[in-house]
Amino acid sequence: MSTIPSITLNNGSRIPQLGFGVWQVSDDGAEAAVRTAIEAGYRSIDTAAIYENEAGTGRAVATAGVPREELYVTTKLWNSGTLDWSGAQGQDAVLRAFDDSLAKLGLDYVDLYLIHWPRPMHGTFGNVWKAFEKLAADGRAKAVGVSNFGTAQLDALRQESDLVPVLNQVELHPHFPQTELRAYHAEHGIATEAWSPLGQGKELLAEPALVKIAEKHGRTVAQVVLRWHLQSGVIAIPKSVTPSRIKENLDVAGFELDAEDMAAIAGSETGERLGPDPQGFDWN
Ligand SMILES: NC(=O)c1ccc[n+]([C@@H]2O[C@H](COP(=O)([O-])OP(=O)(O)OC[C@H]3O[C@@H](n4cnc5c(N)ncnc54)[C@H](OP(=O)(O)O)[C@@H]3O)[C@@H](O)[C@H]2O)c1
Repeated sequence: MSTIPSITLNNGSRIPQLGFGVWQVSDDGAEAAVRTAIEAGYRSIDTAAIYENEAGTGRAVATAGVPREELYVTTKLWNSGTLDWSGAQGQDAVLRAFDDSLAKLGLDYVDLYLIHWPRPMHGTFGNVWKAFEKLAADGRAKAVGVSNFGTAQLDALRQESDLVPVLNQVELHPHFPQTELRAYHAEHGIATEAWSPLGQGKELLAEPALVKIAEKHGRTVAQVVLRWHLQSGVIAIPKSVTPSRIKENLDVAGFELDAEDMAAIAGSETGERLGPDPQGFDWN
């Protein structure tokens, strides 16, 4: 077993602070990667309906030889198409989408269900969140949260419901550390989960300041970045289909970044996103 720390969420449940993401992985590829990840010691898996690999993820979960209750499975609602998701029909559509995800995963509950994108130009999510309240009350989603929400959407949700999302999954890495959003989350009991925690394996991992810190600790830059997430109190879900990297990304215990390291990493902030700005992102 690994020594992955966990974080207590606002509903009292716990989530491993390091999980495994499978965006841009084929269905069969996800089955292989998730199996490798679980064998390596990961216990938390992040998929989504739109990734089209819930079935492969589910096959790996079913055959990994680890009891279901020891695994943490997250999937996400793809709130796309012509539906008025903020209107009344949104609730039934959410429940149907959830049933479809569960069937593909081959599970009778997920540990965490997220609204994938806010699409603020289409209104707020009060009705959709009512369906999430039902899923949480029925225990079919042990926890519910959001992804790519900004403070305006979180404020709106808090006004419409007493059920506070357990976490908000957003783009977050040393180049784009989401300092203000994290402060908002801390104030309102919402955990922060980082997508693209390794900056998608691009320029971030060649950043000279980070290379220097990695050399100092005898670690890789990816391990330093993941250590930074953990020490920042953020949940990280790195993706890899490469078995050696899957293991490398989990091996982040046994060293500590000091204040000088943390300051140098903070200094690498560029303010540049890799993904779209959720406040303007739509796909219709
Ligand atoms: N909610 C959302 O809207 C949203 C958006 C994006 C992502 N996500 C979630 O977040 C997860 C992670 O984000 P991501 O996949 O965008 O990016 P990421 O985890 O930051 O980076 C993945 C990339 O880095 C490479 N990599 C992984 N470990 C490495 C290492 N140790 N050394 C060098 N390169 C390494 C991978 O290559 P190989 O695979 O070839 O090894 C892959 O190309 C996704 O899989 C998904 O679950 C959510």
